[in-house]
Amino acid sequence: MTNKLELNEYKQGVANLYNQRSESYDNSDWHVQICHRLLEYSQVSYGQTILDIGTGTGHLAFAAAQVVEDRGKVFGIDISAGMLKQAQNKANALKVNNIEFQLLDAESLDYPINHFDRILCANTFPWMENKKDTLSLWCSFLKSGGRIGIHTPADTAYIGAVLLRKVLARHGVSLEASNRIGSIEQCVNLFTSAGFEGIEIKTEKHGSYTSLEKAKAAWSGTIVHPSSISLKIYSNELSKLSPVKLAQVKAEFDTELEALETKEGIWDEIVTWYILGHKP
Ligand SMILES: C[S@@+](CC[C@H](N)C(=O)[O-])C[C@H]1O[C@@H](n2cnc3c(N)ncnc32)[C@H](O)[C@@H]1O
Repeated sequence: MTNKLELNEYKQGVANLYNQRSESYDNSDWHVQICHRLLEYSQVSYGQTILDIGTGTGHLAFAAAQVVEDRGKVFGIDISAGMLKQAQNKANALKVNNIEFQLLDAESLDYPINHFDRILCANTFPWMENKKDTLSLWCSFLKSGGRIGIHTPADTAYIGAVLLRKVLARHGVSLEASNRIGSIEQCVNLFTSAGFEGIEIKTEKHGSYTSLEKAKAAWSGTIVHPSSISLKIYSNELSKLSPVKLAQVKAEFDTELEALETKEGIWDEIVTWYILGHKP
């Protein structure tokens, strides 16, 4: 595994975030379930060569490695050395030898063209800075007929973030051009323009009650911490608001969230998408 990677400030921020989360990342089953479903939908089979983008601690890579067996090979790439270390430790402990973990940026990969049978990406695509060019690049690495499978939260996921965007929009501030993927139509257009065919989006609804406090944290995560990644993404838009206006937006945001509170908490609906397609 290469252990040095030049990243821009934004990506270094993302890598740092996941380096910090790497040791506790496997405490939740949520990502494992998603990865298994994505694998199933993408029709991974024996002997295939698979690229797992944003592999993290390797949930999808390990599941794929079991299916492709020794005749196949899985490449798991990520910009977070911490996440990859967890993945590599598991591979060593389990003596899995058909996965190669690589410290690489998904937006500047250099694989041979027409190389992979499947390119999979779970819970990572929203982090891509230039989605169209990145998808075109990934498409070039797929064999003809090879499939892409991407799992991502829909724009309607996470109540705090949804309400924050809604309230800001009322004040002329748009966070829509951030790391969101857009409507189903925009998503199909994006994948088609990157060279994929037969785009299908499978939707799944998850959700749980969250506390008012946690839902309100969308504000501090986006607006308050000057070093946060979101602020870097949104800073141009947010600079349109004076401190007084910002305080007004905050009050409206809190009021709207408080109105949703029940005795169980606030219902946080998480709609997720499995975006599937193939290279012609
Ligand atoms: C939410 S985790 C998902 C991990 C794994 N796919 C899963 O579902 O459990 C997102 C991962 O994407 C990685 N990531 C973000 N931007 C990336 C980029 N440009 N290139 C490669 N990996 C990236 C992060 O470091 C992190 O490990």
